[in-house]
Amino acid sequence: MKLFNRILPLFLPASLALCFFSCTRPAAEQTMNRFIDSLMSEMTLEEKIGQMNLPVTGSIVTGQAQSSDIAQQIREGRVGGLFNLKGVESIREVQRIAVEESRLGIPLLFGMDVIHGYETVFPIPLAVASSWDTLAAQTMARVSAQEASADGISWTFSPMADVSCDARWGRMSEGFGEDPLLCSKMVAAMVRGYQTDNLADSTSILSCVKHFALYGAVEGGLEYNNAEMSRYRMYNDYFPPYRAAVEAGAASVMAAFNTVEGIPATCNKWLLTDILRNEWNFQGFVVSDYTAVQELREHGVAADKHEAALLALQAGLDMDMVSEAFFLLQDDKNMLPYIDKACRRILEAKYRLGLFDDPYRYCSRNREENIYTAQSRGEARRIARETFVLLKNDNSLLPLKKNSTIALIGPLADTRANMSGTWAVAATPSRYKTLREGLQDAVEGKGTVLYAKGCNLTSDPVLEANATMFGREMRDPRSDEQMLKEALSVARKADVIVAAMGESSEYSGECACRTDLSMPDVQHDLLVELKKTGKPVVLLNFSGRPVVLNWEAENLPAILQVWFGGSETADAVADVLFGDYCPSGKLPAAFPRTVGQMPMTYRRFNTSRPLADGKDTFSKYQSSYIDSPKSPLFPFGFGLSYTTFHYSSPVLQNSPTCPTVSISVTNTGTRDADEVVQLYIRDKVSMPARPVQELRGWQRLHLAAGETKTVEFLLDVQTLGFYDQEGKAVKPEGEFEIMVGPDSKNVKTLTLSL
Ligand code: BGC
Repeated sequence: MKLFNRILPLFLPASLALCFFSCTRPAAEQTMNRFIDSLMSEMTLEEKIGQMNLPVTGSIVTGQAQSSDIAQQIREGRVGGLFNLKGVESIREVQRIAVEESRLGIPLLFGMDVIHGYETVFPIPLAVASSWDTLAAQTMARVSAQEASADGISWTFSPMADVSCDARWGRMSEGFGEDPLLCSKMVAAMVRGYQTDNLADSTSILSCVKHFALYGAVEGGLEYNNAEMSRYRMYNDYFPPYRAAVEAGAASVMAAFNTVEGIPATCNKWLLTDILRNEWNFQGFVVSDYTAVQELREHGVAADKHEAALLALQAGLDMDMVSEAFFLLQDDKNMLPYIDKACRRILEAKYRLGLFDDPYRYCSRNREENIYTAQSRGEARRIARETFVLLKNDNSLLPLKKNSTIALIGPLADTRANMSGTWAVAATPSRYKTLREGLQDAVEGKGTVLYAKGCNLTSDPVLEANATMFGREMRDPRSDEQMLKEALSVARKADVIVAAMGESSEYSGECACRTDLSMPDVQHDLLVELKKTGKPVVLLNFSGRPVVLNWEAENLPAILQVWFGGSETADAVADVLFGDYCPSGKLPAAFPRTVGQMPMTYRRFNTSRPLADGKDTFSKYQSSYIDSPKSPLFPFGFGLSYTTFHYSSPVLQNSPTCPTVSISVTNTGTRDADEVVQLYIRDKVSMPARPVQELRGWQRLHLAAGETKTVEFLLDVQTLGFYDQEGKAVKPEGEFEIMVGPDSKNVKTLTLSL
């Protein structure tokens, strides 16, 4: 008889199941521990290592899983989980092999990169950060978990908690921007959305916070490169989001590809054991990134795969994604305690998910209808429109009237494959509307949408192929001249030109780093010609990162940054373009003037020779560039609205228990809208020094036209404090600038003395 059947009576019914890591129920913990003790006492060493093995899924086709390359390994108990296998039928079949044909019947985990939605695709994470709406992030994760779990998935490799200030790095798209606090709040909300407070609920899945650590700081913005910085910087600027995810209960952590202090994160004991487990008390399991264990050879820290496995295991890695290296440690008795610990952590995760109770809990066929529902799509559309950032709107060109004639032009105007954005593994783009269809539906019976592609993505077919790798559409075979001619003739017939331009989905994302952040060549040329028609041009800028928009900001009257809005992009853009929804997004990372400013953050230090107040250009022997202003083109936190807001003078209450600052904000326009009120601080004298500005809070308000609301921020120890070089919290004292405003640049400042 299978162990699985024998141990059933030991299990709690789902209704009594544990929250993840709930130590508040010692009895339940003890039951779990007894169960795992008993199971592990029956496991061979090879079976234990099997749990730590996450091999590449291979060729598993529904109905033929039995004969797949991986099936035999599963039968032998050499597999702990699989990833990126999609669909209840395939997953059920593979799970059955594990449960019924392996000696101990231990169920598998099924992972996937569910990053910003499943079949209902939400905006890319960087876009969701632009909403500054943590509930939106939580909802996105909740709907993603509901859909993924209905399709067999029990574990997602999300959220990505890597802070990044370097737009050259393609994976900025997958994170929440340049600010540690914004990233922390978003990441924690995602963990809550995926896992809820009850992992045994069959719509909850394990989250995996990644990539620990510092992956967003790779040098030169170059993928997989080293990331080196002081521990002071790590503790204050880069660690907080990972820690926030751990504190929110993240069940697993993925080690980063890069080195930290010369030691690859995959085998960095300081990171994986000292910080993660000993300082942050992380209770879950740590998985490597894809083939990262064997790549320790390429890093130059291991002579061979055996040594790589040894280093990773000793450092605190529990599960090996793809390298299958831990089996090489089978004869090393010294490794037994490490293997026992790692295996236990993975079994605990399976237990907490309730997989021993019912290994098919994610495989019920009747739940598939919960995927891509009208309700989830409604949430995705609602969230998408919150993420668009209005960067410019001269003479209130936007919103457009529905009864106008619109020339929709550009390589992003009529493409289905490029609405979702990068990392949309389960997307089904054939079902998603193109922007052209969305705008046409919105003006139906009132106005007209004319269309011309105008140009390809870039003049370089190789670059275009690389930037459309997963979702390639036909490059237009016509010449640039022919396409331009058509676009101009369409433009001349219209009242207004809407240019849908920028990046394709895979122009950003993993291994999509750029050395030039400006509008690709032929697209820029097209914009120049469209402007010459004299018709007003609205730029809808698609991108998975901050980009350089100098010419556009100087020459075009309106720019709406739409990132990649997911499956409902088309309708959401129409909602904002025609004013059914008032834009409220704020940049989660500054837009630079030139790629040469990268990496850039508003949280910079003052230097010994700062530019004088209000000065932004070159000044000899002061911290400045000779050929560019120092400031970004659009600052962190920036975003306009169709209405206007008035900020009153902030008021400080310096109570000895906890000072506060409050400010009243009035919607002085004629439309109801949301506004994100931001709190920044500057600790004026401290050792070590602090940055000139740090976001320490925000509130998103809904204000009806004419309405005033007052916002209050606590200025407590947590809000004002920081970490020293050893990661110890420093008590705030002395003078602080307290800044409140609609973005990092336009703030009203008061002084607080503690
Ligand atoms: C990425 C991870 C991802 C993994 C599995 C890697 O290349 O860095 O973020 O989770 O692949 O797909």
